[in-house]
Amino acid sequence: MMENIFAEKILAQRVAFVTGGGTGITGGVARALAENGARVALVSRKMEHLEPAAERINALGGEALAVVADVRQPEEVERAIAQTLERFGSLDIVVNGAAGNFLCAAEELSPNGFGTVVDIDLKGTFNVCRAAFAELKKSGGSILNISATLHYLGTPYQLHVSAAKAGVDALTRNLAVEWGRHGIRVNAIAPGPIEDTEGMSRLVPEPVKEKLKRGIPLGRFGRIRDIEQAAIFLCSDAASFINGAVLVVDGGQWLSNRMVGG
Ligand code: COA
Repeated sequence: MMENIFAEKILAQRVAFVTGGGTGITGGVARALAENGARVALVSRKMEHLEPAAERINALGGEALAVVADVRQPEEVERAIAQTLERFGSLDIVVNGAAGNFLCAAEELSPNGFGTVVDIDLKGTFNVCRAAFAELKKSGGSILNISATLHYLGTPYQLHVSAAKAGVDALTRNLAVEWGRHGIRVNAIAPGPIEDTEGMSRLVPEPVKEKLKRGIPLGRFGRIRDIEQAAIFLCSDAASFINGAVLVVDGGQWLSNRMVGG
């Protein structure tokens, strides 16, 4: 693992609320926030994803709380924020990483399939931002949304996710404008293909992988650590004038215009 390149404990005294924080990319982001001094609430639908992640953080000397909530349910989100405040006393950083995905041709996608992904990715992000607003306003905190690059071009079998993530980008920019005056920064990261993730194993068929890699100007897939570093930067005071940015972390992939089949 790459050593931590940030000044020691640059997020000390901060409290972070991370949805999807048990596994995958946002699991890494949650661990990195803790590594840099933040106390973290890990939030997702499944305690079996959260508990091991929280234990790993606590074993490394961090402080993590596992909270079960479905981001699609506004009352559950509000309860999760309340539990976080009860345990840690404040809220400074919100990371919206909870997401749903599967490959499906547009003509085969059911209304409920489309709606489910929009409900998790887009409406879930709204539900969390809305519930966190009052506390973020008090702390002058920041929000980091995990977006994607899928919707920059037309990505086959990803209509539902592309629509949802386009909405997440819109929400990011809009909230940056509306909530900037309250001292709240709102940014997003758009990861490219990241190795060792569920997304990579489930969404990128094996024969496509090599072709996909060749289309990345930097010549490799991203690592979860790459997203962690970008997240720590955007959540830290180093980014205190960055608001409404969607930071693409993809090795230049989408610009090279060689997506699947390219
Ligand atoms: N292809 C087509 N449609 C699918 C699908 C697939 N592979 N998987 C789910 N759907 C449809 C279902 O058929 C259903 O629609 P219907 O009622 O018209 O049949 C709808 O999506 C909801 O599915 P359901 O399984 O009831 O939803 P859920 O809330 O239990 O699960 C998902 C949410 C669909 C996002 C599920 O894939 C999931 O939980 N994934 C794990 C998290 C994840 O994807 N993380 C992202 C890693 S990149």
